[in-house]
Amino acid sequence: MTKDTATRLIHTRGRRLAQKTVNPPIERASTLLFDTSSDLYGAKPGYGRMGLAVHRELEDALCVLENATFAKLTSNGLQACALAIGSQVKAGDHILFTDSAYGPTARYLDRRLEKMGVEATRFDPRCGATISNLIKPNTRVIYLESPGSLTFEISDTPAIVDVAQQRGIRTILDNTWGAGILHKPLDLGVDISVQALTKYAVGHADVFGGAVMSRDKRVAQEIIDCGDDWGISLGPDDAYTALRGLRSLKTRMDAHEAAGLRIANWLSERPEVSQVLHPALEQHPDHVIWKRDFTGSNGLFSVILNAVSPEGLKRFFDALELFSMGFSWGGFESLIIPCDPQLKRSKGHWIDQKVGPLLRIHVGLETVDDLIADLRAGFEAMGE
Ligand SMILES: Cc1ncc(COP(=O)(O)O)c(C=O)c1O
Repeated sequence: MTKDTATRLIHTRGRRLAQKTVNPPIERASTLLFDTSSDLYGAKPGYGRMGLAVHRELEDALCVLENATFAKLTSNGLQACALAIGSQVKAGDHILFTDSAYGPTARYLDRRLEKMGVEATRFDPRCGATISNLIKPNTRVIYLESPGSLTFEISDTPAIVDVAQQRGIRTILDNTWGAGILHKPLDLGVDISVQALTKYAVGHADVFGGAVMSRDKRVAQEIIDCGDDWGISLGPDDAYTALRGLRSLKTRMDAHEAAGLRIANWLSERPEVSQVLHPALEQHPDHVIWKRDFTGSNGLFSVILNAVSPEGLKRFFDALELFSMGFSWGGFESLIIPCDPQLKRSKGHWIDQKVGPLLRIHVGLETVDDLIADLRAGFEAMGE
């Protein structure tokens, strides 16, 4: 039977390549085809949302990175945080979460979970074992992020895990800063590690992705079920890009670390700077815990300036040529943002004592001397 062009366009399928390639194929597929009706049901994967070759390879790489046995991919980091938490709680439960959680995660905990009948309470990121004082009979989850967003507190994760395990409470840790290279929460007994792949894994500021990792079979099934119920998936092109990013993660991280340390040390000598919030610096209040539980640092940290006028601060930002202003981090480029508008902490948080504005800095892969010259020019303009 001769078929019309429109029909033939729909049924044209090229030869599939069978050669071995270094990288997995990107299969752009919602529909998967089966030869017989009996193959249709029960096939895994039976539908593109479950992921294909590139997703399996990314999941395997993430398991290597985090010493996990299971990884679930999500379309961005916030969704990974929401999935990890949502998979563990039901109406009537209570969750404890760090006061320094990434803002939108804290908003999800405060706003969305409340609507779902789950009570969420903040804890001091430096509380350690005294978290036991906050536990209620219905506490199901302790949610950590270490270092904390913007303020870089390092939690005493083993002490908190110890308390949680004694009470049958699950622990989740946002490991985006550690990226699996610098920190392995599952090795410390944490039940679920979460990453925004958008940051260092992808590394080029061009793609969103997230992942939820565990090595506990029951936890993994809870994450799978919740992910299925919420319809969570990651597109194949984005999975491919994240996987490509992982190949060079260690090398990029080493470069971010070296440049970040040089700039953090330089900043700590500047008269305009009151405090550098970088856990690898000896003067950081949690340096000892960081040294025990992390294997290195990266390019992301904050500084608290001495008191400065709004005009002086504006002149500083206007003078910068290499440090651009923009949310996010982990890419090849250097970024700087004033953080005070997004510093939403409980009353009595140590940050209430700060003298001047808090700036978060991401040190990219540019030549460090150029970056230092850029910041110097900013400080000179600030003082004019
Ligand atoms: C610590 C942390 N977790 C999660 C996220 C969310 O990641 P995404 O932007 O991919 O949703 C971010 C984003 O900045 C983050 O900094």
